Amino acid sequence: MARARSWVGRVLLIAAAVAGLTANASGGPELDPDTGLVLDAGWELVRAHCTVCHSARLVTQNRGQRQTWQHMIRWMQATQGLWPLDADTETRILDYLAANYAPAASGRRQPLPPELLPPNPYAPAKP
Ligand code: HEC
Repeated sequence: MARARSWVGRVLLIAAAVAGLTANASGGPELDPDTGLVLDAGWELVRAHCTVCHSARLVTQNRGQRQTWQHMIRWMQATQGLWPLDADTETRILDYLAANYAPAASGRRQPLPPELLPPNPYAPAKP
C-alpha cells in the first residue's frame, strides 16, 4: 500500500511541477536573452541608447510612470553624459518604458465589507 501511495504521490508531484513550469514559461512577457529587456515595440532603441554606459539591469530593475522615466533621462542628460535624444526617439523609448516597466499594481486584496466580518471584540467602544 505504501508503495502504491508513494507512486501516486510522485505522479501528482510531477504533474504539479510540469503545470508550474509551463505556467511560468507562458505567463511572463518574452525577454531578450542577452539584455533581459522585454521584447516589445521600441526595445531595440532602448538597447541601443540605454545599455551603453550601464547594464540593462539598471533599466529592468527600475519601475516608473512615464514622467518618472523622463526625469531619469533628464537626470542622466544633465549629470551623466547621456546624449540628447530626438523627440521621436525619446517618445518611443518612453512609450516602451512606461508600458513595460510601470510600477506594479498592489497585490493586496480589497478589504472585506463590514457585513462579511465577524464582530470585532477589540473594536473601540461606540461613544
Ligand atoms: C552616457 C551614459 C549613460 C547612458 C547612455 C544612459 N545612462 Fe542611465 N545612468 C548612467 C549613470 C552614470 C547612472 C548612475 C549609475 C549608478 O548609480 O551607479 C545611470 C543610472 C540609471 C538608472 C538608475 C537611476 C536611479 O535612480 O537609480 C536608470 C533607471 C537608468 N540609468 C536608465 C537609463 C535609460 C532608460 C537610458 C536610455 C534612455 C540610460 N539610462 C542611458 C549613465 C547613462
